[in-house]
Amino acid sequence: MTARRIAFINEKGGTCKTTLAVNVAAWFAQTKQVRVLLVDLDTQGHAGKSLGVDVRELELTAFDWLTRDDVPLDRVVVPTAVPNLSLVPAYKSMADFPLVSSGRPGRDHLLKEKLKQADAAGYGVVVIDSPPSLGLTTTNILMASEEVVIPVATTYLSLDGCAEMTESVRRACEEQGNQDLRISLVVPTLYRKTQLADEVLAKLASYFPGKLARQPLALNVAIDEAQSHGKTIWEYAPWSRGATLMQQIAEDVDVAGRRSKRY
Ligand SMILES: Nc1ncnc2c1ncn2[C@@H]1O[C@H](COP(=O)(O)OP(=O)(O)OP(=O)(O)O)[C@@H](O)[C@H]1O
Ligand SMILES: [Mg+2]
Repeated sequence: MTARRIAFINEKGGTCKTTLAVNVAAWFAQTKQVRVLLVDLDTQGHAGKSLGVDVRELELTAFDWLTRDDVPLDRVVVPTAVPNLSLVPAYKSMADFPLVSSGRPGRDHLLKEKLKQADAAGYGVVVIDSPPSLGLTTTNILMASEEVVIPVATTYLSLDGCAEMTESVRRACEEQGNQDLRISLVVPTLYRKTQLADEVLAKLASYFPGKLARQPLALNVAIDEAQSHGKTIWEYAPWSRGATLMQQIAEDVDVAGRRSKRY
């Protein structure tokens, strides 16, 4: 069995990629009875930090897994407080990944190859948290994934990157050979009801017909606080408005991914 591979991608910073990746991964782990692997590939290490993992102390991280043949998945995976949810943590060393891998044959497909270990280990879902940039790391993510979820902040400038993201996915699909790849869902984030935010929502709906989450992820203090405590929203404030919103988005990710491809 191959695991479902869902990547949260936007080259823009601060669009809630990590917040959504962590909480959606936890939702799959707790509601779907499958083992979930959350793969952090960002130098900031925020996915780990959001789950209370001290990424600064780790000897081996995603960088070692991707670049060394003597570091299999089970040496980098760390458990989390959420049952069924494991983490491949990342930290500053990921910054060296493009340079260290630049001369390697098949360098665009290193993650895809390594994720076969996740299939063999019995993970049912792989969720990938991406860095806020385009480059070899993001190319690896696009080559390894099937479902792309794009979180877009509901601000004027955030619309700028949407055409580039669509083009990157199209290129990965049509020119670089990952024909399974789809933009499954676009999630407007950091939403506060203003005229401008609603104009941005309308534009997103026209750029991505049928692909918008039912509701945007509103600005919500409990979601922010949960991260500062190293907890998912389900652990920190399960009855909050933030938890309800996040659950709806996680359901949308699940349904949109199954609808847009072979699941
Ligand atoms: N619904 C929300 N309400 C309020 N704050 C939020 C919400 N969701 C996320 N945040 C906060 O917004 C900030 C950016 O979120 P996050 O780290 O998930 O974005 P990102 O896209 O992963 O950023 P980067 O591009 O740097 O990796 C964080 O400080 C996070 O706590
Ligand atoms: Mg992030």
